[in-house]
Amino acid sequence: MIVYTLSAFSAIILIGLCIAEELPVTTCKRNSSNYFNCLKLAVEESWPQFIKGLPEFDFPPLDPLSYKHGTFDFDRGEVHGKITIKNAIAYGLKNAKFAAVRAHFLDDIFRLEIDTQVPKLFLEGDCEAEGRIGGFKMGGKGSYNLTIDDIRGTWDLIGHVANDTWTVEHFYCRPTVKNMKIYLNNLFDGNKEFNDLAMYFANEYWPILYRSMLPVTSEIWDPWLSGFANRLFSKVSFSKLFP
Ligand SMILES: *[C@@H]1O[C@H](CO)[C@@H](O)[C@H](O)[C@H]1NC(C)=O
Ligand SMILES: *[C@@H]1O[C@H](CO)[C@@H](O)[C@H](O)[C@H]1NC(C)=O
Ligand SMILES: *[C@@H]1O[C@H](CO)[C@@H](O)[C@H](O)[C@H]1NC(C)=O
Repeated sequence: MIVYTLSAFSAIILIGLCIAEELPVTTCKRNSSNYFNCLKLAVEESWPQFIKGLPEFDFPPLDPLSYKHGTFDFDRGEVHGKITIKNAIAYGLKNAKFAAVRAHFLDDIFRLEIDTQVPKLFLEGDCEAEGRIGGFKMGGKGSYNLTIDDIRGTWDLIGHVANDTWTVEHFYCRPTVKNMKIYLNNLFDGNKEFNDLAMYFANEYWPILYRSMLPVTSEIWDPWLSGFANRLFSKVSFSKLFP
């Protein structure tokens, strides 16, 4: 989604009129010898604009970022679970760092890979959990907050270019994280022992939980993130953005 900043144009649609407005962003010539490095600098330069949001693109701010609703199911041996996250707010994307950017264009398919690192992400919101371990059922509603340290991964955006428009069909992202600290509040309708047990379990076993939930969360993130990216890409000329 960062590439939009590279975009030379932002489209404002007013009463059926299309007015193209230029954004003061750097674009990079695809055949230049330092293309990838130019893209990286352009992403770094334009990131603060994405963070603030681009209302003319109907693109919301990224820090804080809000996420209305998502349900994650997981099944692993005897453990079955369903977690619904509501009204989540995430802080910290403004400190994202970009290690490298690569772009490939072949047979009308454009792919952009952005290696990112986010030093710290803090999330809070409401959650509902339902779980079954063997014959034992548990669940409830409550709130949580979550601090995640050192998130690293590649944002991998891929899709067809048609009619001079890039449509992001997939936005893959499977980051690694260094540490997580979770607080749960009132998750089991006031049963503090269950709440604290769930919190202990989550903090003790987050690496396993994270690994087993990652494929599921990626499936949910993919259409959400692709939709985000397309708010920008669907409104700009591909050949002007990536000349
Ligand atoms: C890139 O393409 C343009 C126009 O096609 C050409 O003028 C320029 O020499 C090319 N640059 C490189 C580094 O190949
Ligand atoms: C996270 O929640 C816990 C428990 O409610 C609270 O003590 C802590 O201050 C919260 N963390 C932040 C950074 O707000
Ligand atoms: C490209 O534009 C033409 C004419 O406007 C339209 O018929 C066609 O469906 C478009 N193709 C795509 C893939 O959007």
